[in-house]
Amino acid sequence: MAEKIYITTAIPYVNGVPHVGHAMDYLLADVCARYFDNSRFQAGTDEHGNKIFQKAKELNIPVQEYVDNNSKKFQDFIQRLGVEYTDFVRTTDQDHEKRVQEIWEKVKDRIYLAKYEGWYCTGCERYVTEKEYEENHGICPDHQKSYERLAEENYYFRLADFKDQIREAIESHRMRVLPEFREKEILKLIEDSPDVSISRPKSQLTWGVPVPGDENQVMYVWMDALCNYITVLGYPDKDISDSWPAYAQFVGKDILRFHAILWPAILLALGLELPKNIVSHGMILANGQKMSKSIGNVIDPIEVLDKHGTEAFRYFFLRHIDTFDDSDFTWEKFEDAYNNELANDLGNLVQRLATLCKKNNFVLENDDTPTEVESQYDNLMREFRFKEAFDEVWEKVQAINRQIDEDKPWSLAKNNETEKLKQVLSSEVTNLLEATNQLKPFLPETAKRIEEIFSGTIEPPKEPLFPKN
Ligand code: MSP
Repeated sequence: MAEKIYITTAIPYVNGVPHVGHAMDYLLADVCARYFDNSRFQAGTDEHGNKIFQKAKELNIPVQEYVDNNSKKFQDFIQRLGVEYTDFVRTTDQDHEKRVQEIWEKVKDRIYLAKYEGWYCTGCERYVTEKEYEENHGICPDHQKSYERLAEENYYFRLADFKDQIREAIESHRMRVLPEFREKEILKLIEDSPDVSISRPKSQLTWGVPVPGDENQVMYVWMDALCNYITVLGYPDKDISDSWPAYAQFVGKDILRFHAILWPAILLALGLELPKNIVSHGMILANGQKMSKSIGNVIDPIEVLDKHGTEAFRYFFLRHIDTFDDSDFTWEKFEDAYNNELANDLGNLVQRLATLCKKNNFVLENDDTPTEVESQYDNLMREFRFKEAFDEVWEKVQAINRQIDEDKPWSLAKNNETEKLKQVLSSEVTNLLEATNQLKPFLPETAKRIEEIFSGTIEPPKEPLFPKN
């Protein structure tokens, strides 16, 4: 068993700057990491492939310089989200490239060369089946681009060798695929999954890791990218058993198939254990449509962060964007949540309770501090149902507001009911600190501030926690 819980995030393509959709992997993984408090946390950037190569060419920037710049933007973005990773991997890192080639050599007996002709989407970087091609009328629904007809000689990975083992691992929950409705989709998809093309001829793709022993072929981006989760740990030259198998791998639903089918097959071929949980989130939509660089309807996360800060960003995306289903982002929803919930429910509560405490010289006794953590919250957190867990916390926050309205501490003070006043303030502050404890994975900075305000001599904040617009 791993000493530390290893948590991973999908590595975004760097053919553009981060958009709000990219935040989901990081935020969910960060909530998980903070909840367990003893984790190794990988993040990185996916820097090979034609999409990136073409974009750099269009912009007339040397490719390496282009990916350097964009990778940096992702690193800055992750920091601005208040997300703390321990390891960062770039697929153009020399170590990564060397290790991917070593991995290729290790699974060589599962690889064969064959001719293939089919429909390809550069946006998805994958071949689609004839059935998908027909269903989508020749146009990728995610990228609104026509599929290209490609005929080429590629290396294939024998997925067929591992289908039974993968199916068994998913069904027995040795490797959980979450949420459950996605598990069902994956189990169906496994049946129809053909062997996977894992290389492209050099004439079609130059910006990638060369296939060892064949100068005419370059590794397919997904083969290269998936391996990041273990190359970053040092595999194969280092023992990774203190981190691997991953406890949770966070990915968007659009790339779940790679993580729940191809990736486990590679791991099995290497003789490595399968991840414990693969957690897939939904898409953030803009006006009901997927946000994507290719469509050009992206919401700039930096604008959201500049306007309202990290904590408000985390609040909205962790509570108003569903953990598993697609959800719509609109500025109106964001502003409403900020004003009515963060500023009113929480900000005002802290202000008013701290003011009441100060006015009445109330200090929390040590043995009043919360010790018990409630189990419903823990159950939800362990099941990765973060939005629902966050809802629970928020219900507590709202209940404390109601409690204060009912207790009317100001009347007790006026009537000199000192003992009763002490009792109600103690209960209110204790409840708030209990909620704050559970708020930590979601809003770490806010939780820290609330704890500071209510420890020792209680001092209301000079500025409201969340100033209204
Ligand atoms: N490079 C691959 C991942 C390789 S992982 C070994 C890739 N990159 S991506 O930039 O397209 O997406 C990175 C992550 O962001 C994925 O988890 C993807 O699902 C997520 N999202 C991209 N757009 C999104 C939304 N609009 N909404 C939510 N998540 C989205 O795929």
